[in-house]
Amino acid sequence: MKLRYKWLTGVVAIAAIATGGFAWFAHQPEIAAAPPGPHDFTTAQIARGEILVRTGDCAVCHTASGGARNAGGGRLDTPFGVIVSSNITPDRETGIGAWPYAAFERAMRRGVDREGHYLYPAFPYTSFARFNDEDMRALYAYLMTQPPVRSAPPPSDLKFPFNLRMLMAGWNMLFLDGRPWRPDPSQSAEWNRGAYLVQSAAHCTACHSPRNVFGAEQGGADMFAGGGVVDGWHVPALNTASRAPIAWNADDLYDYLRTGYSARHGVAAGPMAPVVEKLSRLPKEDVRAIAVYMASFAPAGAGSAADLAQHEAALDARSDGVMAARAQTGAALFAGACAGCHRVNDAPKLFGVRPGLAYNTNLYADSPDNLLRILLNGIGQPATRDLGYMPAFRYNFNDAQLAALANYLRTDIAGQPAWTDVAAAAANIRSTTVRSTTAP
Ligand code: HEC
Ligand code: HEC
Ligand code: HEC
Repeated sequence: MKLRYKWLTGVVAIAAIATGGFAWFAHQPEIAAAPPGPHDFTTAQIARGEILVRTGDCAVCHTASGGARNAGGGRLDTPFGVIVSSNITPDRETGIGAWPYAAFERAMRRGVDREGHYLYPAFPYTSFARFNDEDMRALYAYLMTQPPVRSAPPPSDLKFPFNLRMLMAGWNMLFLDGRPWRPDPSQSAEWNRGAYLVQSAAHCTACHSPRNVFGAEQGGADMFAGGGVVDGWHVPALNTASRAPIAWNADDLYDYLRTGYSARHGVAAGPMAPVVEKLSRLPKEDVRAIAVYMASFAPAGAGSAADLAQHEAALDARSDGVMAARAQTGAALFAGACAGCHRVNDAPKLFGVRPGLAYNTNLYADSPDNLLRILLNGIGQPATRDLGYMPAFRYNFNDAQLAALANYLRTDIAGQPAWTDVAAAAANIRSTTVRSTTAP
């Protein structure tokens, strides 16, 4: 697995600063193994646990490529060495089969294993700590009733001093709030439901909030301020710093998170596509609650319904391309290669969606990288099946043509000042990525 967690650098740095002087403070006792025996979980608990395990991406990290589900061995490569995920199937020797609930809860809320060793925050326990007791028990119920797999993953292999797990106690002291999430009584029940899901299982902030030098997520006014880079994609802001040409509201967020597409914004591509795939397993009401919560961070909208309709009509017209400009290379490329699928007003309806490009936040971003990635590699794995595929133009256009096209979209369709050095950025992305191979 590729390391998304560059911030581990900071994590380890602070840990090293806070030397072993607090060894006494850091000591955590072993929790005795639970006796083998049947558990008395309810079917409802197990079913809820399954949903949460999917939403929390447990198997994404806890499954080695080609290995048994959740049997561990997933590798997270860091500059300091490799962190290997653990076996979380209920095998008594190699998994968590001998863990009583108290040990599981301590690992999830405090990042300490049953024997008392500290775990690295590559395991997102800072988010998982927020689970309420009911959901924490449901997670445990589901994991303990899965088939045990006997498999001992290789140990993590980190260089000195990063191999001293106890140093994580320093980081936890500064950045871990191990308490379950508590509702805000001044907000609606639905808002609170959304807030809880976002802060615990869905960990949206892991990508959408900036991090400080120690790798901890920024809260307060910086929550959802975007700015990070995940697998080469720039993560957009979702708070008042959002560049979306139409402010996000709860209905549009619901469409986008539920189907991967909002007519007034566009599609979820790149690292956002698997998030939508994952949310599609949550009950609709939960996705609705997330949308209501997230909308409370967005900038105020366009005002009256008439203002909004006018704004949309303008964006529709711009999406169809500025025909007077066809003499330019970029405009000509757009008319020939893109308008057939992306015109909003009068194009024939084909399979899939028809995103109007003037609505796309990526055209308003500081960097052209996300747009160039989409143009070079296409979208071969749509977030949901009905969206259709965006073809890759890697072999159709050279870097200069891509630059002309990207800047035409930027200046004429989005009405923004031109990007600089676009051809160099295209060359760089071309040489460091491969075309999506799953497109038909
Ligand atoms: C981003 C990757 C990632 C995700 C997502 C993730 N984990 Fe982990 N988890 C890890 C890593 C890596 C370790 C081992 C950390 C270490 O060795 O310090 C770990 C350790 C654990 C442990 C301690 C096991 C032991 O034997 O010490 C438990 C329990 C656990 N994870 C449960 C979960 C559950 C439940 C979920 C989903 C709700 C989950 N994890 C999601 C990466 C992840
Ligand atoms: C065969 C039809 C087709 C052609 C031709 C096409 N696209 Fe697309 N495009 C799509 C579809 C369908 C999607 C949504 C795919 C998905 O998310 O699965 C898309 C998505 C996009 C997106 C992401 C939109 C968003 O809302 O996030 C951009 C940007 C884009 N196309 C630009 C272009 C440009 C520029 C061209 C011309 C070089 C082009 N497309 C040509 C069908 C097409
Ligand atoms: C793995 C990193 C990651 C996670 C986790 C993640 N996102 Fe995203 N998100 C992205 C990226 C990258 C984009 C840009 C995608 C694109 O341009 O197609 C994005 C785009 C979005 C957008 C569109 C913004 C715009 O103006 O176009 C919304 C809304 C959004 N995410 C909401 C969420 C919510 C809600 C969650 C949690 C349920 C979440 N994201 C979790 C990486 C992530």
